[in-house]
Amino acid sequence: MKTSELQNIKQRYNIVGNCDALNHVLDVALQVAPTDLSVLIVGESGVGKEIIPRVIHDNSPRRREKYFAINCGSIPEGTIDSELFGHVKGSYTGAINDSPGYFGVANKGTLFLDEVGELPLATQARLLRVLETGEYIPVGGTEIRKTDVRIVAATNVNIRQAISEGRFREDLYYRLNSIPIQMPPLRERGEDIILLFRLFALQMAEKYKMDRVVLDEGAKQLLMHYKWPGNVRQLKNITEQISVLSPERTITAQVLSQFIPQDQESTQLATIHREGSGDHSFENEREILYKILFELRGNVNDMRREMSALKKQLDDVQTASPVVPQVEHMPATTFPTPITPHPAPVASVEDAIAEEYIEPAQEMESLNLNDIGKQMLEKALERNHGNRKKAAQELGISDRTLYRRLKQYGLDQ
Ligand SMILES: Nc1ncnc2c1ncn2[C@@H]1O[C@H](COP(=O)(O)OP(=O)(O)O)[C@@H](O)[C@H]1O
Ligand SMILES: [Mg+2]
Repeated sequence: MKTSELQNIKQRYNIVGNCDALNHVLDVALQVAPTDLSVLIVGESGVGKEIIPRVIHDNSPRRREKYFAINCGSIPEGTIDSELFGHVKGSYTGAINDSPGYFGVANKGTLFLDEVGELPLATQARLLRVLETGEYIPVGGTEIRKTDVRIVAATNVNIRQAISEGRFREDLYYRLNSIPIQMPPLRERGEDIILLFRLFALQMAEKYKMDRVVLDEGAKQLLMHYKWPGNVRQLKNITEQISVLSPERTITAQVLSQFIPQDQESTQLATIHREGSGDHSFENEREILYKILFELRGNVNDMRREMSALKKQLDDVQTASPVVPQVEHMPATTFPTPITPHPAPVASVEDAIAEEYIEPAQEMESLNLNDIGKQMLEKALERNHGNRKKAAQELGISDRTLYRRLKQYGLDQ
């Protein structure tokens, strides 16, 4: 596979990394895409398995047909057969119409069966049949239906254990596994870890409208030697925490170590340790931060409202009595800063992570804190059993402000 072709794919799907194992994965995905072979993607949780079936579908002759991603672990056992293989009218209470199921609607397209190891045994038998013959019988039906669906499945490494415990059919495993694709864990990707950190730092800078965090040499070393049990997903979460919580924008190993779980086996959120302050969880830190942002935003809004009321009064006076000397417009600096549109997103991931500088945030208003504010209010009220006075006290805002916010979020009923 030519390097430029790989670069194209990475850019198109926002895939960051250049290690041999990742390049090999993409290479295999592109090679098998034009065929109808079943592909089984195996890898730990959080390694990025979900990107691959999309790459396969989009580069296959089926690209103009339907693509469905189904998380087999999240569909209840009682309905999964009907979801996948459809049902006939009246086959169970609530089956008021015939349903084609995913295997019906995805005909000629691709189905991605994520967490395939979670399928119940009965469903596995149906799946094996449709894979081998292209035929299936809907729930409650007798008539055989035909379908032409390409299957890409994904599983974490525990599927072998599931086979040994009799929870997963070995014959189905081999049938799905015509082409195995092994996603490498993050800890084996060397410098890619740093590239991914840069990508996520950039995304968070954009999301929270703040300067991007950068790593110093010591921090890079720490990042590359950590075990990453939660893989890319964990790195993304930690980058988000650092971006939001660290007052420093240049991250040292010492700062970074506060965000990385001490127990390397653990995938839980990092606990922040500060000298003299004892332990407090990230959740609390975040709440405090949100609280400050929330209040600041309120103040800016109040100021804006008051200024526009004032301006309106002035305008009214001017139109009502033209003899009154013209009031000079107030200097722009006394008005709240106007909202400046956020800079357009950078053209590509590669360009983006090459960028060394991001404009600092200009305007509090542009922070999208609505959801956060609402959540905070709800939580504070919950903790105080609906007592508004106490909730306001806890949040450090006046009763009036609390009432206004409740109204604003439709919580005042
Ligand atoms: N190489 C990569 N480049 C950019 N983002 C990635 C990469 N690999 C994974 N991600 C991101 O990491 C997160 C977890 O990936 P996901 O495909 O859901 O993992 P899995 O299905 O293996 O548990 C997603 O947000 C995904 O976009
Ligand atoms: Mg997944």
